[in-house]
Amino acid sequence: MTVVLNTTTIDANSKNVQPAFAAHIDAELPEWTDELAAEMAPLYERVKHVVTPMEWPHYAPLIKAINTLKKERNAVILAHNYMTPEIFHCVGDFRGDSLQLAKEAASTKADVIVQAGVHFMAETSKILSPEKTVLIPDLKAGCSLAESITAEDVRKLRETYPGVPIVTYVNTSAAVKAECDITCTSANAVKVVESLGSPRVLLVPDEYLAQYVQTQTDVEIITWKGHCEVHERFTAEELEAYREEDPDTKIIAHPECPPDVIATADFTGSTSGMIDYVKKNRPKKAVLVTECSMASNVAAETTDVEFVRPCNLCPHMKRISLERIYESLRDMKYEVTVDPEVAERARRAVERMVNLNN
Ligand code: 13P
Ligand code: SF4
Repeated sequence: MTVVLNTTTIDANSKNVQPAFAAHIDAELPEWTDELAAEMAPLYERVKHVVTPMEWPHYAPLIKAINTLKKERNAVILAHNYMTPEIFHCVGDFRGDSLQLAKEAASTKADVIVQAGVHFMAETSKILSPEKTVLIPDLKAGCSLAESITAEDVRKLRETYPGVPIVTYVNTSAAVKAECDITCTSANAVKVVESLGSPRVLLVPDEYLAQYVQTQTDVEIITWKGHCEVHERFTAEELEAYREEDPDTKIIAHPECPPDVIATADFTGSTSGMIDYVKKNRPKKAVLVTECSMASNVAAETTDVEFVRPCNLCPHMKRISLERIYESLRDMKYEVTVDPEVAERARRAVERMVNLNN
């Protein structure tokens, strides 16, 4: 039998064309039947422009199993904008940039938070919700920026620059946050820096974000040499080539990109700022100068915009898959813990940012 979803026809037998999940998982999933296809049709509507009818029977039973486990565990999934569309649109309860996810972590009533993102995001959730169980589906989901600086490095910076406030990007470990005065994200970095009322501020660890903030404020910014391994690979030349090909192409960049890339861009902002720009301005063609999956997530909702994709994948974000989210909720792994004394000090820095933004 076949089930018709708008103009797309999905056959219950089409599961055969997809590679199965690991056998032990496959055996636990609901069978792909016409009833399940009909039940999952509203979710397919959300992703039908970016997930093919061949792929859907592969994902849908797992999505159903995850959404059932979420109810049993009173869990929520916080999905970063870089998650793949089947995660972002079909199992994510809250979606957004790192600031929005941190705010959700602070206010959710759920008992369990599954962080569909990277480790520093899960630590931030644990810092803000110490009484909750915070899970990350893969412990190796790290971040090159977070690894570029240690708590010891920050202590040395304090000695070198006595009295200068230290702002840390949230892309850092809890131990680093605990040594800093306040955190920031790419959505609020300028506001955070200016809130301190100091003529000089240390902004660590992302050198390019700090250089971007310097172009937006009179506060003197001292920085660190950390870089994002995904954003530092973009070049102004490749982006100019897209614009030359079609002058209507809008170039929309994340502030973790190198300065010459940002200088080329029509707009620079956090991942959510970039999405809002596309939704409001509806350019004919757009290049999202950031992680690959974000363009797919936006394309699912803005079918009138053509996305040119100079694709750079974040290998850490891509460790989070439907399969691993399922195993995470099934086995309640991997629990993220933060030493209470470190968490207490890091919380002050994160809450100062969250309250500022509120
Ligand atoms: P956002 O805060 O813009 O979501 O960015 C987080 C991140 O890791 C970008 O690479
Ligand atoms: Fe870290 Fe860059 Fe990946 Fe964001 S995209 S999580 S900054 S490595």
